[in-house]
Amino acid sequence: MSDPNRAQAWALLCEFTKTQPLRRHGLSVEASMRALARRAGVTDPAELEKWGVVGLLHDFDYERFPTMEDHVWRGMEILRQRGWSEEIVKAVGAHAPYTGIAPETPMQRAIVAADELSGFVGACALVRPSKSVRDLPAESVLKKMKDKAFARSVDRGEIRRGAEAVGIPLAELVSLVIASQIPIADRLGVGGVAAPDLPDEPVPHEPPAA
Ligand SMILES: [Fe+2]
Ligand SMILES: [Fe+2]
Repeated sequence: MSDPNRAQAWALLCEFTKTQPLRRHGLSVEASMRALARRAGVTDPAELEKWGVVGLLHDFDYERFPTMEDHVWRGMEILRQRGWSEEIVKAVGAHAPYTGIAPETPMQRAIVAADELSGFVGACALVRPSKSVRDLPAESVLKKMKDKAFARSVDRGEIRRGAEAVGIPLAELVSLVIASQIPIADRLGVGGVAAPDLPDEPVPHEPPAA
């Protein structure tokens, strides 16, 4: 496979991931990755798609292999077997800090910045009266980061590490992630309405530029 292909990435995600929240997580991280690519000056559509594909795929093996011994290692193995480029494989591996794969390229750094924060922003949106990311201020997310009782499973240190990795001030990164989710808020379930199921087909359309 010479070019990363979004439709193939979606098919692979759906083959391994039956639960809706994890499919939505892939889509939200995809949107953040594309926004980070644009922020890094990427304009070539194929390159933008590649960054997005890393977001879609980064947790594709997690439902089947959720332990630290397996998650991401199995995924990387499967990607290689199926002919995905080493660039994609490494970037997928780099999202999990315990792999010891140091994020080096801009795309590898971006997945670290996008992953935990995408989920955290979604959690912040859901506790608003509107249950929507559309009226979620970045300040509210920053405040919630300090509230240890809120969304305990999200590692705040990992969010900060991500912002440092891409060299974007945390407040700006939060705004970028919020903006990336707004165009697809309903699909992600953070638009104030129950999200529709994401079946294997059709492939959801690409997230528009925020
Ligand atoms: Fe993961
Ligand atoms: Fe993730």
